[in-house]
Amino acid sequence: MQLNAEIKKATDPIYQKVSKVIPEIEWSFHAPLIHKINMLKKEKNAVVLTHNYQTPEIFHGVSDVAADSLALAIEASKTEADIIVLCGVHFMAETAKLMNPIKKVLLPDMGAGCSLASSITGKDVRLLKEKYPGVPVVSYVNTSAEVKAESDICCTSANAVQVVESLGASKVIFLPDQYMAKYISTKTKVQIISWVGTCIVHERFSAQEINYVKKQNPGIKILSHPECSPGVIAVSDFTGSTTGMAKYVNKKQPEKVMLVTECSMSDNVQIENPNVQFVRPCNLCPYMKTITLPKILDCLETETNEILIPEIISRKARKAVERMAGIGRSH
Ligand code: 13P
Ligand code: SF4
Repeated sequence: MQLNAEIKKATDPIYQKVSKVIPEIEWSFHAPLIHKINMLKKEKNAVVLTHNYQTPEIFHGVSDVAADSLALAIEASKTEADIIVLCGVHFMAETAKLMNPIKKVLLPDMGAGCSLASSITGKDVRLLKEKYPGVPVVSYVNTSAEVKAESDICCTSANAVQVVESLGASKVIFLPDQYMAKYISTKTKVQIISWVGTCIVHERFSAQEINYVKKQNPGIKILSHPECSPGVIAVSDFTGSTTGMAKYVNKKQPEKVMLVTECSMSDNVQIENPNVQFVRPCNLCPYMKTITLPKILDCLETETNEILIPEIISRKARKAVERMAGIGRSH
């Protein structure tokens, strides 16, 4: 595909936005794909829901909504489009399908997994429930539909404490992220029984590394995701979901900031905040990075990679995600 005058005219306003993080030579490959995807979206009445960890050409080029997992789930439930293309990972596409089962939900790469989601199965949850009879199960949204179906309620990083407290129980099983479980324990009196999952991106950050950055950059604000270790969270100024971190930067305009999370977040938030200086400790999520513009175009053209969930699982899993959606986001 060539970058002709028509494509240039249609995509130049987007390039004005992203030129700080995408070199012109690279843009000449992205622009024709972006143009074609945006035309196809209109033709097929499709919507592109994108997670904050997607690369800037996807985030700013083809997305209708770009946000954290909670917002993507809620947007999926409200959309009037016929097709949802989920630019994120498999559990996010499954959640979209659970929230709006009559829509066709497509995932550009079916290999877009998640280390947390693969750390636990439905059978593991059944065994936990046998071990702790009567204790409610809160599952992080980073789980398969099969695990959600065994859970009382889901949560995301944007509402985990609120969801745990909403149950009115003195003890809950929280799975699968052991670090998120520890983070919740510091914010509530509810006793948390956890699992052993971790995020391969966030577990790699260390408090030592953050302290070094702080020493080199006096006054820097450190924002971390609750999937980070307790040591990293302890040396952070703010801990929250990906959208929570973006909102912090948009609102407070710190002079210098470090987002202790996946690499693309800093690029995407930088574009909206040109006066903020970003220190970038970069850890890539290999699953998020399987999504590319050619794969988005291909799945939209051929309508392949559709998310299908057996009715016996989706009926129960839907209850857990809808219950979470009813609780909303913590402030
Ligand atoms: P958010 O829900 O905060 O967007 O996080 C999702 C995720 O996978 C973080 O690693
Ligand atoms: Fe899963 Fe971690 Fe990637 Fe998020 S960043 S999708 S938790 S592996």
